[in-house]
This record gives sequence, C-alpha cells and structure tokens, in this order.
Amino acid sequence: MNLTHNTILITGGTSGIGLILGKTLLDRGNTVILLGRNKNKLAEAEKAGFHTISCDLNSQEDIENAALQIHNHFPNLNMLFNNAGVQYNYDFTENVIPLDKITREINTNITGQLILTQLLIPVLSNAEKAFIINTTSGLGAFPKNDGIVYSASKAAMRSFTTGLRYRLKDSPIRVLEFIPPVTDTEMTEGRSEAKMAPEALVAQIIPQLEKERKILTIPKMRMFLWIAFLFPSLAHKILSKS
Ligand SMILES: NC(=O)c1ccc[n+]([C@@H]2O[C@H](COP(=O)([O-])OP(=O)(O)OC[C@H]3O[C@@H](n4cnc5c(N)ncnc54)[C@H](OP(=O)(O)O)[C@@H]3O)[C@@H](O)[C@H]2O)c1
Repeated sequence: MNLTHNTILITGGTSGIGLILGKTLLDRGNTVILLGRNKNKLAEAEKAGFHTISCDLNSQEDIENAALQIHNHFPNLNMLFNNAGVQYNYDFTENVIPLDKITREINTNITGQLILTQLLIPVLSNAEKAFIINTTSGLGAFPKNDGIVYSASKAAMRSFTTGLRYRLKDSPIRVLEFIPPVTDTEMTEGRSEAKMAPEALVAQIIPQLEKERKILTIPKMRMFLWIAFLFPSLAHKILSKS
C-alpha cells in the first residue's frame, strides 16, 4: 500500500501506540483522524494538525455520532485502525471485582469497535482499496492468569479479524492484524518487565504495513504465536514469569 494521501481513522489515537502511529502517518502526508475520550489530549492533537473525534466506545450513541461525522466530513476514509484498548489486571475468582470492569474491557476492546467497523464499511467500500487494521495482543493467542477478560476480548478481536478478512475477500477492503509486544505506554505503567518503545515498534510496523502483511508484529511475537499454538504449557510458563 502507498502510505501517503490516505484518510485514516485511529481509535485509541490519543496516547501510546496509536498516537505514535498517528504522528508517523501524519508526517507522511496523510489525513489522520484520532478518536478518543480525553478532551485535553484531543485538543492537543488538533493543535498538532490532526482531526479528532470525541467518542466513548462504551456508548452506542457516541459510536453512531462518530460514524456520522466520518460519513459527512471524511467520505474518502480508506484506513481504519481499531486500536483502542483497556487492560485491567485482576484475579477473576475474586468476588470483589467491580462488574463494570468486565463490561468496560469487553465493550472498549471488542463490542464498540465491532459496531464502529460495521457502520464504516459502507464508506470504506467506496475506496479503490481500503484497509481495516485491528490491534490484538499475544494474550489473544494465549491468556494470562491475571488478565483473563482482557485476553478473551483480544481473542475475540483476533477471531473477528479473520472472519472479516474472509467475509470481505471479494471487496476492496483488506483486513490486517497488528500485534504489539509489551510496549511502554500508559497501559503498562507500573509493570517492571522489558518494554519496547512505541516509536521503535511503529518503525518496525510501517514497512510491514506497506507490504500489506496479514499480521504486523515483531519477530519475537511471531515465535510466541507458534509456541501458543504448538506448546500451550510452555506459553503458560512464559506468561507466568512476566
Ligand atoms: N502496551 C502494550 O504492551 C500492548 C500490548 C499488546 C497490545 N496492546 C494493545 O495496543 C492498543 C493500544 O494500547 P496502548 O498501550 O497504546 O494503550 P494506552 O496508551 O493506554 O492507550 C489506550 C487508548 O485507548 C483509548 N481508549 C480507552 N478507552 C476508551 C474508550 N472507552 N473509548 C474510546 N477510546 C478509549 C484511550 O483514549 P482516551 O483515554 O482518550 O479515551 C487511548 O488513546 C490497545 O488495543 C492495547 O490492548 C498494547
């Protein structure tokens, strides 16, 4: 794909990996729309040359408004990054977990973006060639003990990605998966394990995006996907140590 002169929507674009991805794509001469909730971060992004959409992916009304804004103001949209995400670490067997933690993880990581995608397929279908790129996680390939709900939401996103890829195979829309390794962002604040800088991650991902690889990730994650598939006990051991 040609990574210039595209119209790109990035959910979860107000911080972390989405923001660095957005900056890189903006610098390359694309129109970039960042979607998020944080008003201050959205205002900063406007100053930096982005377009923005304020939207809580837990609200169907917000999602419908976001899709309407795209239909009305960005009819040339040809790239959608479903990248927003939250991860709460807790023991699922504890009976004191606030139940809204479960619904927020599921709604943000899968349901909201699934609805947004559905509403944007008509716009994306008008492009000569378009892309949907879904951010998943290694935990979608094998779950982590203290992140069972997050892992399940990412496994669902992986399945949605594959399903949509085949459903859209005769359309102009290509569907790709982006699997970040542990990356140094607000999401991983306070975690002591080795983290990749988001700038270094995005620098590795961009050439893969240009080649339209089905899975965009780093070599270590490709290895983990094989381990999770062939040797689940080993995958469990690896995740238990991190
Ligand atoms: N960091 C890692 O180690 C890692 C590893 C594997 C996968 N990932 C995945 O990579 C993606 C980006 O994560 P990150 O590390 O960059 O996290 P981050 O810095 O915490 O950013 C999360 C983004 O999601 C947005 N968001 C959260 N809840 C939302 C909601 N209800 N509605 C709309 N937007 C919402 C946030 O925007 P607002 O606060 O403005 O709403 C923010 O822009 C996520 O899908 C994550 O699961 C991350």
